[in-house]
Amino acid sequence: MRTRVFEIKDKKDDSKIEIAADIINKGGLVAFPTETVYGLGANALDASAVEKIYIVKQRPKNDPLIVHIADKEDIHKIGVDISNKTIKLINKFWPGPLTVLVKKSKNIPGIVSAGLESVAVRFPSNRIARVLIEKSGVPIAAPSANLFGRPSPTDSKHVLEDLNDKIDVILDGGQTEIGLESTIIDCTSEIPTVLRPGGITVEQIENAIGKVNVKSSLEKNEIIKSPGQGYKHYSPKKKVVIVKSNEELKLKLEEFRNKKIGLMLTKDVKNIKADFKIIIGEDKKEIARNLFKNFREFDNLNVDVIIIEAVDDKGLGLAIMNRVSRAAL
Ligand code: TXA
Ligand code: MG
Repeated sequence: MRTRVFEIKDKKDDSKIEIAADIINKGGLVAFPTETVYGLGANALDASAVEKIYIVKQRPKNDPLIVHIADKEDIHKIGVDISNKTIKLINKFWPGPLTVLVKKSKNIPGIVSAGLESVAVRFPSNRIARVLIEKSGVPIAAPSANLFGRPSPTDSKHVLEDLNDKIDVILDGGQTEIGLESTIIDCTSEIPTVLRPGGITVEQIENAIGKVNVKSSLEKNEIIKSPGQGYKHYSPKKKVVIVKSNEELKLKLEEFRNKKIGLMLTKDVKNIKADFKIIIGEDKKEIARNLFKNFREFDNLNVDVIIIEAVDDKGLGLAIMNRVSRAAL
């Protein structure tokens, strides 16, 4: 199939989004921007449409999808037994980059949540995403719009790189704002657990509802509650090495002196030479926003090893280091 790309610029003209909504209603696949990364959407109530998502992404069937809605109240159509803490969280952070896990309602086909009893729900703030969900009139199941194992797309051209001719439409809304995926919080137990750090920080969540558990970063073979978090992920094709100081950087440059090196630094370090060097940004917002784009760009360069400087794990740093560590597994 030919993938059509619709550039969405004019806020007053939603006719292209209407065409995309119609495709969702007919069981097709539409990639769309959210404030975090691009998603690959299908009608969450249509099991065979949802199945296509797994096929085109080459995603294992045990890795559940997030259901996207455009009205807070719709959480009660997707989930049941919604706790007071969940309501507090969504009142505070929706629309926005927070995904809550709740007990699944029977309305949602099992394939969406990979057979689990819980379901992930999110109300994105991106206007194009919201209009798409509203116009289609159904909840939209959507993972990130990349091939399984590749960095999430933060630009329509990344979606094309991975999924050209495999999906019906891409709604192109330019580069995404946050650049890392939403925070996932499991709200099915009394004390919620952050399963994936993301756009909303643990500090922000604890300010809203008090202490939460945070899933520690992952070991390769760990059996965990969020199946998609279990393996090498967000992954550039090249070897990735993390350094925590200039001393460590110098040691690694020495170790890999016979290889072509790509450096990703938060600020320039004098007298350091490498085949490719980029400054990934001094503040965490900028680092997050460009991280996956930088991984993809380095993938296309002639380097053997990517050396990336660590940031501290406060605020957005936790999400940044979670993605970087997984890329380095
Ligand atoms: O920002 C985001 O969350 C983006 C945009 C498109 O909304 N979506 C996204 O989806 O990152 P995806 O599928 O790439 O990552 C969702 C993660 C997966 O690792 C999956 O395992 C986990 O959420 N997940 C979904 N439903 C779950 C459930 N019922 N229980 C545990 N984990 C779940
Ligand atoms: Mg993903």
